[in-house]
Amino acid sequence: MRVVFLGAPGVGKGTQADRIAAQYQVAKISTGDLLREAVRNRTTLGLEAKSYMDQGNLVPDVVVIGLVREKLADPSCANGFVLDGFPRTVPQAEALGTVLTSKGIALDRVINFRVSREDVVRRLSGRRSCPKCQATFHIDLALPKVEGICDRCGEPLVQRSDDRRDAIEMRLKVYDEQTAPLVRYYQERELLLQLDGSGAVEVVFQHLSQELAPYQVT
Ligand code: AP5
Repeated sequence: MRVVFLGAPGVGKGTQADRIAAQYQVAKISTGDLLREAVRNRTTLGLEAKSYMDQGNLVPDVVVIGLVREKLADPSCANGFVLDGFPRTVPQAEALGTVLTSKGIALDRVINFRVSREDVVRRLSGRRSCPKCQATFHIDLALPKVEGICDRCGEPLVQRSDDRRDAIEMRLKVYDEQTAPLVRYYQERELLLQLDGSGAVEVVFQHLSQELAPYQVT
């Protein structure tokens, strides 16, 4: 299974990518998670990325393309992968195509998650994330078992610095301008599948699993 999860910030890409990766034993490649890890470890890349991320802007293409190329070369991707939050620009999509072609493989599907703007803003402004394992929760919609504590690793949950109101607005604007054109890009390549992401997490997961089941064997 080789799939891309596309959609505005907060549509649930990361939540569903975690589940699909676990269910089908494929790698989850999240550029947001990789960049946050670099920021946390204060690497040169992390220090460069932080200012873009805090403001809700995209990190330069060359940086994220390099990250994804490295990950795709990892043996953990041999059984397939879910790309969460990459590509996000047409140059990133073109670079991905080139990398996959050089490996003699291709994408099976690009899933475009659709959720109303109102719901997306509600999801993002109430999100709480684990700074250690990157699991996500929500103050109303996806409560952890113990308030403020990660179910997976026991770390105190935090609000992401780009989940402030002003950064959310900027991320949505950047999505409309730079990422939304990828819907047409993948439609033209007959890879796009529209998915209603507005239901409960379990409901969305069931629909997604049905759609992805044919691609289970790589
Ligand atoms: P990234 O981390 O990728 O952020 P994003 O795309 O803005 O996506 P989010 O993580 O905000 O949302 P999501 O769709 O994964 O939703 P989630 O499942 O968490 O990127 C962060 C930054 O890194 C970017 O702004 C940019 O600066 C940089 N970056 C990353 N990739 C890049 C790239 N390719 N190029 C350049 N720069 C890049 O869910 C959200 C909330 O909703 C959670 O609280 C969750 O519990 C809840 N929820 C999820 N599903 C449901 C549901 N069905 N019902 C109710 N609640 C739900």
